[in-house]
Amino acid sequence: MKTPKPKVWATFDPIPSVVEYLQSHADFSYNESGQLAGRDMILRQLPRLDGLFVTLRDQVDAALIEKAERLKVISTLSVGYDGIDIEAATKRGIWVTNTPDVLTDATADLAWALLLAVARRLPESDRLVRSGSYSGWRHTLMLGTELSGKTLGIWGAGRIAQAIARRAAGFDMRVIYSSRKCKSEFERATRATCVEFVQLLQESDFLVLAVPLNDETRNRIGKTEFDLMKPSAFLINIARGSIIREDEMVEALRQKRIAGAGLDVYVDTAGIHKKLGDLDHVVLTPHIGSATVETREKMAFLAAQGIVDALQGRRPVNAVNDIETGEFGEALERFAHEVSGEVL
Ligand code: NAP
Ligand code: GLV
Repeated sequence: MKTPKPKVWATFDPIPSVVEYLQSHADFSYNESGQLAGRDMILRQLPRLDGLFVTLRDQVDAALIEKAERLKVISTLSVGYDGIDIEAATKRGIWVTNTPDVLTDATADLAWALLLAVARRLPESDRLVRSGSYSGWRHTLMLGTELSGKTLGIWGAGRIAQAIARRAAGFDMRVIYSSRKCKSEFERATRATCVEFVQLLQESDFLVLAVPLNDETRNRIGKTEFDLMKPSAFLINIARGSIIREDEMVEALRQKRIAGAGLDVYVDTAGIHKKLGDLDHVVLTPHIGSATVETREKMAFLAAQGIVDALQGRRPVNAVNDIETGEFGEALERFAHEVSGEVL
């Protein structure tokens, strides 16, 4: 008797080449509604699934994972996996995979795009010209802030943080960073200096957040931290919105406690704090850190490869958890043995 193909479902519509790839390895389908899948839709699919393909907008919490009867892998089309309860998945022997590295450069570029845009007031300038209000060069028009000689502060020392630091060399900036631990290789490659978190806040002219959202980083930046920053400093957030207490950031910006902000991410992953839109010294982008054609294609294939790896009984290429020991590891091996050769 022919072994049925493993069932994989995506909460979104992957690019056609990835649909084809997954269909060649599994019984693959996806949410074709064009709307966010939502908890109920995921719940309806889960019991029959061997693989679940999600994005950073899907919340896969412990209660949901409880309903997964045969799930082997959850793969997210993102490097951040704060939307997935890793502990619950690991306990149930479910691999979780993500898409590191391939999006590092694109995201570091966006951090710099935001930094330059807010420092040199690009959106304001663009609005002025489009509105027809531009009436010729003036020596006081749209004065911004110089980068060279300033201090770039980075919170984090990971892939994206280091790529942001590398780009600073061309701007003749001093680079400081703070993270869980200092990294000599990072320092050698970029001449960045490791500092305490408070010093990072106090000395940065441009402070870029490049840490994941986790229990220690959630709500970590608020009034106390803004009060420590220079009034001339700019905040750039390409990490996650919930790292910042957004109400307190809006207040700091309104009171000019800091000079401005460039933001790609928000607490509400589908919208922005309503008062942010009123502020001129803020540049807002709709979570587009990795949004280039090239990067999104690489991310899609990497995430799909993680699913196929797990279904074939291999440790997925970018596993963020480890289920290889204990009874769940054995269950995976049994499953791989059942389906090997014939369908995978
Ligand atoms: P990464 O390589 O894992 O780097 C994360 C860095 O943050 C590491 O240096 C890590 O320390 C540090 N860190 C973690 N928890 C910390 C804590 N509690 N306190 C201080 N430092 C901490 O990740 P990445 O690839 O650079 O990505 C970073 C984040 O950027 C992602 O998690 C995601 O949320 C966000 N992101 C956003 C976009 C976008 O579209 N805007 C795109 C991609 C990524 P260790 O070195 O000690 O591990
Ligand atoms: C984007 O925010 C990601 O985590 O990949």
